[in-house]
Amino acid sequence: MEPMSEQTIALVTGANKGIGYEIAAGLGARGWSVGVGARDAGRLEAAVGKLRAGGADVFGVPLDVTDDASVAAAARLIENRAGRLDVLVNNAGVTGSRQQAPTTVDPETVRTAVETNVIGVIRVTNAMLPLLRRSASPRIVNMSSSVGSLTLQSTPGTEVGPISAAYAPSKTFLNAVTVQYAKELSDTSILINAGCPGYCATDLNGFRGTRTPEQGAAIAIRLATLPDGGPSGGFFDDNGPVAW
Ligand SMILES: NC(=O)c1ccc[n+]([C@@H]2O[C@H](COP(=O)([O-])OP(=O)(O)OC[C@H]3O[C@@H](n4cnc5c(N)ncnc54)[C@H](OP(=O)(O)O)[C@@H]3O)[C@@H](O)[C@H]2O)c1
Repeated sequence: MEPMSEQTIALVTGANKGIGYEIAAGLGARGWSVGVGARDAGRLEAAVGKLRAGGADVFGVPLDVTDDASVAAAARLIENRAGRLDVLVNNAGVTGSRQQAPTTVDPETVRTAVETNVIGVIRVTNAMLPLLRRSASPRIVNMSSSVGSLTLQSTPGTEVGPISAAYAPSKTFLNAVTVQYAKELSDTSILINAGCPGYCATDLNGFRGTRTPEQGAAIAIRLATLPDGGPSGGFFDDNGPVAW
C-alpha cells in the first residue's frame, strides 16, 4: 500500500464562489490539498482553474449535498485520491425564497433550507466520517450563522436579519446538530464546531453584506486549524463564542 501523504487534505462544500471559495483559497495558501466541492460542472471547473492560477493545490469534487449518489461519489473520489480526509468544511448553504415569514411561508421553502443546510451537512459528514477517522487530527467546520442564535433572535433591539421560518431556524437546527455530533464523537480526536462568518457580500444576500467573503472565511480557517485538545461542539465568530 502507498504511504499516505503528509499534506493535509481538506474538502470544502459549495466552494465555487463566495465564502466557500475563499475558504478553499485560504486553506490552499497553507499548502494543503483542497477538494473544491461544487454541484455544477462548469462552475466547478472555473473555480478550480482560478484557484490553481493563484497557486493553490486544489482538485475538483463534483458534489451536490442534497444528493446521496453525488455525496457517495465524492467520498469515493477523495478515498481514491488521498485515502483519508483531515478537514471537512460544510459550507454549502441556501437561503431559499424571500417569503419566509412564519405565518405565510410555503412549507417547501422550509424544506429546501433544511434539506441543504442541515440534512446536507449530515449526509456529507456521515459519508466522509470513515475518511476523517483515518486522520490523526480530524476537524469538521459547519458554516452556520448568528441568525440561528435564539439568544440574539430573542434579544430586543438586536439586528439578526429578516423574520424567517426557514433560513434562520435551519441554522439553529444546524447548531443543535453540531452539538450532538460533538457529544457522540467526544471520545475521538475529531473536533466539530459551528462558525459564523458575519454579514458578507455574496450571492446569498444580493451582495449587501458589509464584510468581504475573505473576511468571512477567516473563522472557518481558524476552526479548521484548531490544535489537538481545542474546543468541540462550540459556535464561534471572529470575536469568540456566539450565544446559542
Ligand atoms: N454571506 C453571509 O453574509 C453569510 C452569513 C452567515 C452565514 N453564511 C453561510 O456561509 C455559507 C456560504 O454562504 P455564501 O454567503 O458564500 O453564499 P453563496 O455565495 O450563495 O455560496 C453558496 C455556495 O453553496 C453552494 N450550494 C448551494 N446548494 C448546494 C448544494 N445542494 N450542493 C452543493 N453546493 C450547494 C452554492 O453553489 P451554486 O453556485 O451551485 O449555487 C455556492 O457554492 C452558507 O452556509 C451561508 O449560510 C453566509
